[in-house]
Amino acid sequence: MKIAVTSASGQLGSEICKALIKEVGQENVIGLARTPEKAKWLGIEIRPGDYDNAADFLSSLEGIDAVVILSANGDPQKRIPQHRNIIEGAKQNGVKKIVYTSICGSDEGDSFSPVVKSNRQTEEDIKSSGLDWAIGRNGLYLEPDLEYIGKYIEEGGIKNCAGEGLSAYTTREELASAYAKMAIEEKHNGLTYNMVGEPITQFQLAELINKVFNVELNYTPMSVEDYTEERKKALGDFLGTIIGGIYAGIRNGYFNPPSDFEKAAGRPHKSTEEIIREYKAKHNG
Ligand SMILES: NC(=O)c1ccc[n+]([C@@H]2O[C@H](COP(=O)([O-])OP(=O)(O)OC[C@H]3O[C@@H](n4cnc5c(N)ncnc54)[C@H](OP(=O)(O)O)[C@@H]3O)[C@@H](O)[C@H]2O)c1
Repeated sequence: MKIAVTSASGQLGSEICKALIKEVGQENVIGLARTPEKAKWLGIEIRPGDYDNAADFLSSLEGIDAVVILSANGDPQKRIPQHRNIIEGAKQNGVKKIVYTSICGSDEGDSFSPVVKSNRQTEEDIKSSGLDWAIGRNGLYLEPDLEYIGKYIEEGGIKNCAGEGLSAYTTREELASAYAKMAIEEKHNGLTYNMVGEPITQFQLAELINKVFNVELNYTPMSVEDYTEERKKALGDFLGTIIGGIYAGIRNGYFNPPSDFEKAAGRPHKSTEEIIREYKAKHNG
């Protein structure tokens, strides 16, 4: 069984390749990448895979049994045709199954909703492709918060507009082990899973970071408007609006759906504390 993974040069794509190599061997995993040289370190065959170039997928998906499509990361409207390029390449090459990494969240109600909406459209495109499929809706990654601890200390704590909302964070590594199973096991076909871990508030996130890193972060809630404005100034309009929308989504409970992680991965999700401890050990913190 040959399995291809798109965006193999990225952090989630490379983790999924590594998880698949463990399951089916490196000769059966093919990485697709817009920038192939960035994925060479994986030690597997890398083929061209620019989402904007339909021809890449017509040639690169030859001889592939299943393809894992990672959601694109640009303008939400552009993502729909980008993903369609891959779906079409899969159809033309007789690929049997598509696994898609979608996103949790609401397709209306906050400034992240356009991204969610475009992901939902791709889910529909995949379901109507005629191929077998399995879809995961990813929770938010915890890693960016851990990478940001130094900044949080500098800034005097965690500040955002999530309020009392719960977010069931996950990590790329946790997701990757589940997506590898979803690609190779037939029992996931035709199912859409919420790929999330343990739900926590921002207050609990601060407490867990304090416990593991022996620091003293506080969480300060902000209004959605103030936080989004502040992020737009720091990150520019596109990214600032998306980040503001994500935290507004946490506030509204959109990132705390019932978890299907165990069904997908065949094991429970790691606890948030375990993830933070592992992160600290890995980074000699
Ligand atoms: N759940 C979350 O919290 C969360 C957070 C951020 C993003 N996401 C989503 O999850 C996806 C994967 O996340 P990540 O952490 O792996 O992101 P990442 O490390 O930034 O990787 C992004 C990947 O997208 C590739 N890419 C961008 N435009 C492309 C195009 N036109 N054609 C082919 N590849 C393209 C990049 O390729 P190059 O190496 O050529 O640049 C790179 O491999 C993101 O794309 C985004 O949709 C989710």
